[in-house]
Amino acid sequence: MDLSTNYLGLDLKNPLVAGASPLSREVATVRELEDAGVAAVVMYSLFEEQIEHDATMHDHFIEFGADSFAEALSYVPQQVGFPRGPDEYLDHIAKLKAAVDIPIIASLNGTSRGGWIKHAALMEEAGADALELNLYYVAADADVSARDIEERYIDVVREVKRSLRIPVAVKLGAHFSAFANFARQLDHAGADGLVLFNRFYQPDIDLENLDIIPDLRLSAPHEMRLPLRWIAILDPLLECSLAATTGIYTSFDVLKMMLVGADVTMLVATLLRNGVGAVGFILEGMREWMEDHEYASLQQMQGSMNQLTCPNPVAFERGNYMRELHAYRPNI
Ligand SMILES: Cc1cc2nc3c(=O)[nH]c(=O)nc-3n(C[C@H](O)[C@H](O)[C@H](O)COP(=O)(O)O)c2cc1C
Repeated sequence: MDLSTNYLGLDLKNPLVAGASPLSREVATVRELEDAGVAAVVMYSLFEEQIEHDATMHDHFIEFGADSFAEALSYVPQQVGFPRGPDEYLDHIAKLKAAVDIPIIASLNGTSRGGWIKHAALMEEAGADALELNLYYVAADADVSARDIEERYIDVVREVKRSLRIPVAVKLGAHFSAFANFARQLDHAGADGLVLFNRFYQPDIDLENLDIIPDLRLSAPHEMRLPLRWIAILDPLLECSLAATTGIYTSFDVLKMMLVGADVTMLVATLLRNGVGAVGFILEGMREWMEDHEYASLQQMQGSMNQLTCPNPVAFERGNYMRELHAYRPNI
């Protein structure tokens, strides 16, 4: 059974990638992931705020044009919980590269045009096989338009692409008004892949202390439907690779993502909940299903149910909405 796939120009033995998470913090865990069968690992992100913060600490004479720093200090509480600064992050890339044979994808998180972007080149130098740009921005400023934000993202992608030889994937949230158009602009700006979709973690209210508190909840399996729909729509429209993230737990989830056109799936919550042993189960389940359905390779199935090739293309758009609402039977 040939489970091989290509993602960002990297030849991978299968489509299971350990997504950005604390699982990459320890070399031993990354070795375990490799032994369990994952084909690549995305590292936890290094944040713009960490880089800018670190640079400011070292050199008070450098002025940062980006508006990100003052903003950053207000929402990054004194670096609490961030395990490694920029230098340690680069060292960690080198350590992971020395410890395993699978590709290591570094991850950089930010949204402004600040000096942090230069850090991408250092990640390449440290040995990263690819870079994932995690563009996570809550568009809460009423003076900033959708177009401004899209341009800002595209600028960042262009600038990073200009300074790197390794491939660059862009990880995005789903909250864009015209997603297909924006995705195509990123494709044209040189993104080698899109990672769909990052989850926005929503704060909660502590009723006792009347405070706003973070409360990270892991994804639920049904959340994979959002990337599933968009990968189905985008697969025929884009040249770049597509990675699915959010809510992928089982072999069936991975198979569905492959059918709609994903090149890889990224696993986080299932590994955090079920341990690295989940990888073996998923691979076994995929092989079994493919054998039963007479597929000899993943390539045979990839994209065979995207919006262009599936039997009911409108199902991925508005048509399905009405049908689903009408078909629902309350269980009262
Ligand atoms: C504890 C934790 C830490 C994460 N850290 C990062 C990160 O540093 N960078 C990033 O791009 N995504 C990060 N993510 C998001 C995951 O990579 C992934 O996109 C998201 O959890 C959805 O996938 P899942 O449903 O398999 O968990 C993190 C998720 C969790 C749960």
